[in-house]
Amino acid sequence: MALNLDSIGRPIGPIVKDYTWKDAALYALGVGAGFDELDYVYEKRLKVLPSFSIGAVFEFLMAVATDSGANLGGILHGEQDIVFHAPIPPEGRLTTTGAITHIFDKGADKGALVIAQADTFHHSGAKLFTNIFTLFCRKDGGFGGEKGPGEEVAFPDRDPDFVEEDRPSADQPLLYRLSGDVFALHVDPEFARASGFERPIMHGLCTHGFACRAVIKHLIPGAPERLTRFRVRFSKTLYPGVGIRTLIWKEGEGRALFKVLNTETEEVVIDHGVAEWITAEQVLARRAHGAIHMRGKVAVVTGAGAGLGRAYAVELARRGAKVVVNDLGGGADGSGPGAENPADQVVAEIREAGGEAVACHDSVATPEGGEAIIDAAMDAFGRVDILINNAGILRDRTLLKMTDEDWTKVLAVHLDGAYNVTRPAFRHMRAQGYGRIVLTTSAAGLHGNFGQSNYSAAKLALVGFMNTLKLEGKKYDIKVNTVAPIAATRLTEGILPPDLEGKLLPEHVVPLVLYLAAEQCPHSGGIYNAGMGFFSRSAVVTGPGAAVGDGQSPPTPEDVAARMSAIRSLAKAKEHGDLNAALLPVLEAFDPDSAKGEGEAGLSVADVFEQMPGAFKADAAAGVDVVFQFDISGSGGGTWHVLVSDQTCEVKAGPHQSPTTTIAMADEDFIALMEGRLNAMRAYTSGKLKIGGDLMKSQLVEKLFSR
Ligand code: NAI
Repeated sequence: MALNLDSIGRPIGPIVKDYTWKDAALYALGVGAGFDELDYVYEKRLKVLPSFSIGAVFEFLMAVATDSGANLGGILHGEQDIVFHAPIPPEGRLTTTGAITHIFDKGADKGALVIAQADTFHHSGAKLFTNIFTLFCRKDGGFGGEKGPGEEVAFPDRDPDFVEEDRPSADQPLLYRLSGDVFALHVDPEFARASGFERPIMHGLCTHGFACRAVIKHLIPGAPERLTRFRVRFSKTLYPGVGIRTLIWKEGEGRALFKVLNTETEEVVIDHGVAEWITAEQVLARRAHGAIHMRGKVAVVTGAGAGLGRAYAVELARRGAKVVVNDLGGGADGSGPGAENPADQVVAEIREAGGEAVACHDSVATPEGGEAIIDAAMDAFGRVDILINNAGILRDRTLLKMTDEDWTKVLAVHLDGAYNVTRPAFRHMRAQGYGRIVLTTSAAGLHGNFGQSNYSAAKLALVGFMNTLKLEGKKYDIKVNTVAPIAATRLTEGILPPDLEGKLLPEHVVPLVLYLAAEQCPHSGGIYNAGMGFFSRSAVVTGPGAAVGDGQSPPTPEDVAARMSAIRSLAKAKEHGDLNAALLPVLEAFDPDSAKGEGEAGLSVADVFEQMPGAFKADAAAGVDVVFQFDISGSGGGTWHVLVSDQTCEVKAGPHQSPTTTIAMADEDFIALMEGRLNAMRAYTSGKLKIGGDLMKSQLVEKLFSR
């Protein structure tokens, strides 16, 4: 399999991982912490060991390996560089996104380097760390690509300043793997032997954690939050129970070099180590900075004279944004403008609190009004980074009582209004390569509400508006999201039960909208419900559906009626990122190769072996002589062997006397693999796919048989 150069720059993630103090403590125990470093394991004073960050990105690393198309028999985790932006909180949700950034060719005999980078954010919005991975792909060199830079680390020609002796226990990998890296090589003696080792080996990243503890202990004792960089090169494998020695050279205040030796062989197991750190004062300064702030940002909030808009504007200004407070004034039904404009009061309130704001009284309902609102931002502050489309009115009537004016006025403010203001804002955001746009929908639009057909239509149309803008803005870092708020305001007077009114404060919606408006927000195209401090996401999803008929002549209504339960089913429903993604299942429904026509199509293990001779690619098998034995466990399983001998293929039930390679899996996993739902590399690393005998030959399966 050749390296896939198209994978460079293709986004990977978001990968989401929830963790608690127990995960952080378990990780610390896995890398040798104990009573001497109680902070790493005791919840009452927990400090998360910075190298814990690697657990959050393990899946990312797997995705890099598979997306790059590297020959998995030749992959080694070559280097790992982590830059820490903020201390890791003791619990929370981590979201990681990134991409492969480079693929370098070291030469046919030397291999290739796949380099990937990922940023991880805490749910509070703080950016915690950036990981830079280097995968060394021993078997993929010689494709004619660039050689890439070779950063070297020169150790000083003197004794190290600090030496830390340690001894991972003979069972260390068993504890470490509970933090997520469950690759069979570190637990399964048989698997380890088949891979060419005497017994299971230490995880390189476990030794990495030992080294991280040693570096902190000697350079910044008791203050892991001061570590800002930790880089290593993995150079040799290590068996559990063998002693290690970490040698540390301090290069000056804030930087040190280190390596880790195997004390039995004196071999270097971790090389080229670089650690960097900052002072305690710098940590405090960073902490203030890490919170979601809006300094340097210019925000426009429409309909900000009252209700939700006012609350957004006040908080944006409190966090440092310069705000255009737009409001026409007037009645809840759009009558107006009123004599006193509420925008002026909100501006006064912001200024009194030390913030910066200007008022703008134009209506969102006309294109000229929209231009004028954005011009107000440009004139006063020179840019626009955030736009919150919030202005709204209501003219509730059932359909037959509704006047044309009720319909057009409501659409003019909500739908045309969003278009009128977003268009000029988008122009500036695109030019500056940055923007955050929040649209305001409503539960009435998402789900329906009696007497609000005009409002519901306008509100759901905004979701469609967002769905396309998220695509058009992607290249320019313009993120577009939609909020469905619920709060007691003028618009909900008489609608909400009175006892709820005091609880449904606009201020409870603010945190979500501020997050969506923040630089830290990596998400785009989401619909978020917010009210009373409860937040959730709504989405448009599509069920697996059913192919009715043969795909040639149209089916009859009776055929459709007979399949309605499958057509209506939302089991395993999926969200599609765009129109093309939504079209794919339709195109695949009658494609004989995709075998996905029916959501419920039941491929059996026996079917797979029956169909195998038909899937054999004789051309790819010239000179190949190999016997694969498949041991499939579970009720649908059994044993089969496949004899491939110079362009011929024979499949037989039962075991073979001397198979070249054995492949063991559970029946469900095997079917998932065959249907493309389970990735071979992930199955292998998670232990779902066990390979015995000649490991390298197992890769021929993919080459010799089409799916
Ligand atoms: P609100 O009536 O307190 O605030 C809306 C503001 O928009 C008013 O100050 C009004 O003067 C202004 N406005 C109206 N037409 C305008 C125009 N043409 N140009 C500029 N400003 C204009 O109402 P609330 O509840 O704060 O509503 C804010 C947004 O949230 C609206 O889009 C509303 O549809 C939406 N929403 C509110 C819900 C709630 O529970 N309050 C529920 C779902 C959605």
